[in-house]
Amino acid sequence: MSGQKKDLRIRSTSPSKAKESSQGKNEIDLYIDMMRDRLSRIPAKIMVMSGKGGVGKTFISVSLAQYLRKMGYRVALYDADETGASVPFFLGERKAEIYADEETGELIPHLTYDGIQLMSVEPLLTDKSTPLIWMGSLRTKFILQTLALTRWDEPHVMIIDLPPGTGDEAITLASYVPPSRYSLIVTTPGKLAVAIVRKAVVFSRKMDIPIMGLVENMAYYRCPDGTKLEVLGESSADVMAKEYNVEVLARIPLDESIRRAHDEGVPVYEIAKDSDINKELEKLATEVAKRAGLPNL
Ligand SMILES: Nc1ncnc2c1ncn2[C@@H]1O[C@H](COP(=O)(O)OP(=O)(O)OP(=O)(O)O)[C@@H](O)[C@H]1O
Ligand SMILES: [Mg+2]
Repeated sequence: MSGQKKDLRIRSTSPSKAKESSQGKNEIDLYIDMMRDRLSRIPAKIMVMSGKGGVGKTFISVSLAQYLRKMGYRVALYDADETGASVPFFLGERKAEIYADEETGELIPHLTYDGIQLMSVEPLLTDKSTPLIWMGSLRTKFILQTLALTRWDEPHVMIIDLPPGTGDEAITLASYVPPSRYSLIVTTPGKLAVAIVRKAVVFSRKMDIPIMGLVENMAYYRCPDGTKLEVLGESSADVMAKEYNVEVLARIPLDESIRRAHDEGVPVYEIAKDSDINKELEKLATEVAKRAGLPNL
């Protein structure tokens, strides 16, 4: 790999009132062009989103990256959650490093132990316990800049982990990520979740992003006697799927092994090999590969 390592670390707190100069605007246009050019070379981009927080977007993004990688695909994983970046932790990559090629100014993504190409704000923070205090314009600029400058190694697919809601990050990505792009919408049972997740479905439609499908996470809890308990409420994924004419691609239970996989930073297929969860995640990755038109390897 060419280039010298350059320290890129950023202070966690930054002035929240950054004003954009006219020069800044030109810079943004340049980033948009560069980002479109770079991302158009990646055959499929999958935005994992939900109107709601804490439903398992990061779990699904990371698992999808790990399972597609296990199937042999070259995978880029972009963490678009700047203020709550948790992808490196879920991957067990707390010491991830991102640096710049001093000759070209390009950013070099971190390569995980299993070969996933990772870009996240988290490795760039000097102080891990201080929050990033960035207004929308800075968050937007960070996304455009990193996607414009990152030198990916010819991935077949890019997984994008979005923060909750349909705010700046989602609008920025929906506006500028070029085709082929898709959304994968994560939901959980319960009336409140459905009311909010519905907004992600409508957002995708309005922004002209084809919905690849729904994933119902924390769908049930399997009791020791084998019965299924609907801890979070009645399943509603099918109702939403029917209403919007999309498919439910996976239903994943609430399970202690998932939390453990994240705490230990290992893939679910290592911790719960013979489980329903592993089967559902394998099915999800296979379905995503098929729907994204990835080659048979
Ligand atoms: N099916 C599951 N069973 C048990 N724990 C789960 C499951 N799915 C996710 N979790 C745990 O729930 C927490 C929230 O998951 P995750 O961070 O993936 O949600 P998120 O939607 O990305 O949240 P945010 O909106 O903050 O980005 C994590 O601690 C994760 O380990
Ligand atoms: Mg998340």
